[in-house]
Amino acid sequence: MKQWNAVLVGACLGVLASGLARAADVAAQPEETKEQRDARMGWWREVKFGMFIHWGLYAVPAGTYDGKQVAGIGEWIMNRGKIPVARYAEYAKEFNPTKFNAEEWVKISKAAGMKYIVITSKHHDGFAMFHSKASTYNICDATPFKRDPLAELAAACRKEGMILGFYYSQNQDWHHPGGDASGGHWDKAGQDGDFTKYIDDIAVPQVKEILSNYGEFPAVLWWDTPGKISTENAAKLNAVVKALKPKIIMNNRLGGGFKGDTETPEQYIPAGGFKDRDFETCMTMNDTWGFKSYDDKWKSTETLINNLCDIASKGGNYLLNVGPTAEGLIPAPSVERLAQVGEWMKVNGEAIYGSHPSAFGYELGKAQPLPKGKKGHPKTVGALDWRCTSKAGKLYFFLLKWPGEKFSVKEMKGKALKAYLLADPARKPLAVAQEGDVLNVTLPPAAPGQFANVLCVELAP
Ligand code: GLC
Repeated sequence: MKQWNAVLVGACLGVLASGLARAADVAAQPEETKEQRDARMGWWREVKFGMFIHWGLYAVPAGTYDGKQVAGIGEWIMNRGKIPVARYAEYAKEFNPTKFNAEEWVKISKAAGMKYIVITSKHHDGFAMFHSKASTYNICDATPFKRDPLAELAAACRKEGMILGFYYSQNQDWHHPGGDASGGHWDKAGQDGDFTKYIDDIAVPQVKEILSNYGEFPAVLWWDTPGKISTENAAKLNAVVKALKPKIIMNNRLGGGFKGDTETPEQYIPAGGFKDRDFETCMTMNDTWGFKSYDDKWKSTETLINNLCDIASKGGNYLLNVGPTAEGLIPAPSVERLAQVGEWMKVNGEAIYGSHPSAFGYELGKAQPLPKGKKGHPKTVGALDWRCTSKAGKLYFFLLKWPGEKFSVKEMKGKALKAYLLADPARKPLAVAQEGDVLNVTLPPAAPGQFANVLCVELAP
């Protein structure tokens, strides 16, 4: 991690030296070469596992408005509940997350084996979770709390060797006049206005703030719901990024034709990954991003681990969400699951970090066409109960279900020299027999670990 941070710091210093001077002719800069891009994406491709944090004013109502539970994801309560702007802004007066402890959050993510964090700096509700001069509608000026959680997180991340990124909702803003709202403005007096003026007066200055005020961070800028943002307006935001943090990694949700660096499959794992594009599956641990007091549809630890294996085997990253409470706590069921994932990562992390995709592919099965009339994304059920990642001279097989004493793989390229289970501290060699491209490994009758067990197969040079 030290190395990655050094790379980031170096990148940022480089920006100060050269980027600002060139800010004006950003558009004229040539596209980066493949080598430059690979270098820029390097840390991100290594780390594989990050924490998404959705934290904002919506944690105060926590899914309930006027005594009624509002359906849908928690951070959308203002929109789904058609809460008037002034009424929603009242929550700021109640927002005093005195139990927030940045170091604790960073330690929870680190113990889970996560290597980066992406937190909402401003979500669609328009409330800035940082000290903003562009709008007093921010956590320092509008709440009794007055502290800047992004600054505290940046310090904690720096201390713990964690990488920090920011989410920013650039198109939708339900508070500042002119900001877009999915489904249209419901509080005309509060929300109607000129969109370009909103971009110029709020979004551009705030993006400058979040890119300037936190040292080497953010390393990631996570845009969202671009809607119909024009190329011209998106280009203003893109220009700010290129001028202030040209090495940053941006997702594909800026809009206006900007492709960004990463695909962002949301709540699903793409059937076979993305060809020639980096991807990051973002996913909730229950059914909401922002905290909802009564959402207890928690995914099991097994599901979370299997998802991580599946995603890594397709070459992607897993950005797993937590939705802290209005007191500033990550919900206990999330903390418990993350701790268990972390135990698993301690044993099996070498099969995840810095890994390359599967050397096979047939284990994934074919993408299932969606039933007629259904919206969504094609799924793979998975033809076989294992996934694979690879590194130089090594194949890692994630045994999602214990196969019994015989594990058999076809279409082997290369010759297996030895095999062992990562869960076996002695790494005792298991019997391997290879005939042509079929490999058979003899396993112990019972699985050593509770969750996916990883079989490492070392190949002849
Ligand atoms: C969506 C939602 C949003 C959430 C995001 C995470 O597009 O609008 O609330 O932050 O997905 O991927």
